[in-house]
Amino acid sequence: MNASILLGYTEAIRRRLHGFGCWSQPTYGFRGTPPSAIVYAVPEFIWGMSVTIGPAMPPLRLGVNVDHVATIRNARFGHYPDPVRAAKLAIAAGADSITAHLREDRRHIRDDDIARLKAEISKPINFEMAATDEMVAIALKTGPHAACLVPERREERTTEGGLDVAGQHNMLASVVARLVDAGIRVSVFIAAEPRQIESAARVRAPVIEIHTGPWCDALGEGRRDAAEAEWRRIRDGATLARGLGLEVHAGHGLNYASAETIAALPEIVELNIGHFLVGEAIFEGLADVVKVMRAAMDRGRAKARQA
Ligand code: PXP
Repeated sequence: MNASILLGYTEAIRRRLHGFGCWSQPTYGFRGTPPSAIVYAVPEFIWGMSVTIGPAMPPLRLGVNVDHVATIRNARFGHYPDPVRAAKLAIAAGADSITAHLREDRRHIRDDDIARLKAEISKPINFEMAATDEMVAIALKTGPHAACLVPERREERTTEGGLDVAGQHNMLASVVARLVDAGIRVSVFIAAEPRQIESAARVRAPVIEIHTGPWCDALGEGRRDAAEAEWRRIRDGATLARGLGLEVHAGHGLNYASAETIAALPEIVELNIGHFLVGEAIFEGLADVVKVMRAAMDRGRAKARQA
């Protein structure tokens, strides 16, 4: 059997296992144990048997954030366009999960969107939330697959900085414990700074999501040195986090090119992407842009595997 046929079979198996393995329940409630050790054990075993062309790479999941569909809907205070419909379309096009941020001021996603997402979609929900009693109560009532703790200020346009885990240890440790005890996989959205990463491990969050906004901004504005420095910070932060047994996600400001680049980091197993996809969907249609994003991520992974 020649190499390309073998690779094709391997990829088909990997995609199958991706769907099966990546959301398998054992990741719930892990504290301090590398969650992906179990999640990837089977796919990497099979991979390892047949692929000898590069490092083993875990699958890279795509979480589609539908907040901005709700932003457009809310411009008219009505029901159209419906973020739940967008979520279903994104899933049909290859999204592995749906992210939605219920902000304190309900500026985009509303409470009934969260309830409808939970009731109507077939893939996991990643519930983005501030670490407040109100949001914890909603998370516990809804029971999403995952919750991502983010900082929130009323006056900000979007989630502007990472969570200060180091400075809020006790409060966050308690919120993480309440959510994890309810079987929710908790991530903290942080800058790729060693102090924050180590603090994330100390509050016993099983997952971090690295804030890619500063890197993406620097890329978009052509600030090459800053982009390079941010990239190193992300890469080193991802390595540190995995070493501490944390599962690593990333998101904010990603587009096709940056998603393809970051897909080369094997420590990162999930990207959460919203604004670019919804913006690009205006021109190309949501299903198509999710497919093109999927392909860009796969290309990045494949290149790194062959490196
Ligand atoms: N991850 C987190 C934690 C976020 O707050 C956001 C923005 O809502 C995203 C990912 C997605 O960012 P973007 O909409 O820029 O793709």
